[in-house]
Amino acid sequence: MRYGRLTTLCISLLMMTLTSPLWASKKTITIGAVFPMTGPIATYGQESVNGINLALKKVGDISIKGRKIRLIVEDNKGEPIESANSVRKLINIDKVNAVIGSVASSNTLAGAPIAQQAEVPLLTPASTNEAVTKTGNFISRTCFTDGFQGVVMARFAFNNLKKRNVAIIIDNSSDYSKGLAAVFKKEFQRLGGKLVSQRDFAYQQKDIDFKSLLRKVKRKRPDVIFLPGYYTEVGLILRQARQMNIKMPFLGGDGWDSPKLQELAGPKGIKNNYISSHFSPDDQDPMVQEFVKKYIKIHKQRPGAMAALGYDGMLVLLDALKRAKSLKSKDLALAINSTKQFKGVTGTISIDRQRNATKSAVVLETTAKGNIFNTKVNP
Ligand code: PHE
Repeated sequence: MRYGRLTTLCISLLMMTLTSPLWASKKTITIGAVFPMTGPIATYGQESVNGINLALKKVGDISIKGRKIRLIVEDNKGEPIESANSVRKLINIDKVNAVIGSVASSNTLAGAPIAQQAEVPLLTPASTNEAVTKTGNFISRTCFTDGFQGVVMARFAFNNLKKRNVAIIIDNSSDYSKGLAAVFKKEFQRLGGKLVSQRDFAYQQKDIDFKSLLRKVKRKRPDVIFLPGYYTEVGLILRQARQMNIKMPFLGGDGWDSPKLQELAGPKGIKNNYISSHFSPDDQDPMVQEFVKKYIKIHKQRPGAMAALGYDGMLVLLDALKRAKSLKSKDLALAINSTKQFKGVTGTISIDRQRNATKSAVVLETTAKGNIFNTKVNP
């Protein structure tokens, strides 16, 4: 009897140790991923995690510093509050060594201060808003910023398309949209272009009827429209604009880059628009083509920017884990931030002193058959 009780006690103690996250964190390197797997920007999360898994598959069943890699994915539903909760949970409960994510800048901005305070490295593969990495020395990114992307599109509008009068439509609920619009505006005016209205035209995420907004835009007779939004609203805006006979090209940023955009905008809406992005599956670089081939084999569709960014972000993180002096969070942050000349499918990644990556952008034309490569712009 007593022996039996002792055994039960031993077994429960053993179970407690085995299932406790502390145990897990001692035997594995745990990486927490925060992405929108559901909600209005779900393709960003789905593509990111596809890319991350492909990166893990590429390195195979490796051990780094004697430990296996474990990935925990949290769905932030595309919401800032859920993003903060996800980061908190990953750090406090799962005791992760690092966080990768998120995508929408407002989401990353909500989670980053928590990681910074806990001194856990957070690497975003996709958030481009300037403020993200200013949170602190544990927050870094492997993508370019909106300071670059906005200038690329303003120059494309002015120099390549020869447009002179722009209307700007922003998503008022998105730090990304507001920041990118401000950069575009400044550069377009510097070049000599004009705004058809001093005030931006604005909508909110989850709006579905844009007709009265578009009527106001149409009355101002712009020759080009800058629309730095996310694909769900952008798709509806493009569709409704063409129905209202608004024919001039729309320009956007990486937020348009989604396998859902074509379907949402419809064949008329999708035509005659240009975006800046991080990656083109048409890039003939053999490394890119190998990635595209593998991705299509598994997912039966071409990889978009987010898939490529997730892939590169994870490979950079694994590389930093290998190079880090130890698994102490300070050493890991240092290793991430000293990434130099890492060759990825989205370009060559070097992380600078502000913890941003200086990389090339691509301008793509959106068509019913998918995004077509137009130009590459180096920093
Ligand atoms: N750059 C966008 C942001 O910061 C996110 C994004 C990246 C969306 C890449 C699509 C593709 O909000």
